[in-house]
Amino acid sequence: MGMTANAVKERSLLGLKDLSADEINAILNRAAYWDAREEKMIPALKDFFVANMFFENSTRTRFSFEMAEKRLGAQVLNFAAAASSVEKGESIYDTVRTLESMGIDAGVIRLKPIGMLAELAKKVSVPLVNAGDGNNEHPTQALLDLYTMKQQFGELNGLKVSIIGDIQHSRVARSNLWALQKFGAEVKLCAPPNMQAPELAAYAPYVTMDEALCADVVMMLRVQLERHHGDIFSRAEDYRLQYGLTEERAERLAPHALIMHPAPVNRGVEIDDAVVEHPQSRIFKQMQNGVPIRMAVMERALL
Ligand code: CP
Repeated sequence: MGMTANAVKERSLLGLKDLSADEINAILNRAAYWDAREEKMIPALKDFFVANMFFENSTRTRFSFEMAEKRLGAQVLNFAAAASSVEKGESIYDTVRTLESMGIDAGVIRLKPIGMLAELAKKVSVPLVNAGDGNNEHPTQALLDLYTMKQQFGELNGLKVSIIGDIQHSRVARSNLWALQKFGAEVKLCAPPNMQAPELAAYAPYVTMDEALCADVVMMLRVQLERHHGDIFSRAEDYRLQYGLTEERAERLAPHALIMHPAPVNRGVEIDDAVVEHPQSRIFKQMQNGVPIRMAVMERALL
């Protein structure tokens, strides 16, 4: 027998904006549990089929979902739009319905169009997990970011977090903003005027680069060239000098401050090459933490 519509809704993870702090904490705590388990394989999800449906490119999110699912013993189907009937014109909706009709128990989905995921979720009867939708939300990225911050600081309340860069195109910025504020973190935004999202100013102030560097966490964002229209980003070096985390700026950070970036990084643009693996950088730790976070999310979707 299938799940009720309510159960599907509760097990889906479309974003963090509508999740409570308690619900987020439950995922973070469960991720800590999986993180502490030493066994590589724990077949808790062996009776379930999961489809990873990526209609937009990915390395970290796609492979860490797959790693998480396989560590839990799930039967994994990987779907890449470029090698599918999407190339013949099949819609995202028909693709998802096709996999659903074959019997998947949950779907992980990344797509570009904003608003489409919420519509899909109303029409399918298996839990959906958002692996990034347009510039709307990237909930598992923000969960792994929060998890990484908690590992360092113990708690999020009162933490000063600056999100710096291409805010306008960033689903990572939005999911982090929504989640961090639920825990009492003080979020500031910093972006060139043509990369700001004006609607977010009601939730967090835009500050100068110098002010943004006075933080416990500086979260650098990738300049998302593929989403830019026109000549928004004509000179990489100008951007680096004004908004990049250069070696000189990294030296000005507080000794306890963390450097984060969701990656992929544009080395030498929003962050200097030498800063990516700076002692205060947690960029590769973030990627590592993506696996236990996604184990917790897939368990929540299925068990
Ligand atoms: N951080 C992130 O979402 O990376 P990918 O696009 O490689 O999944």
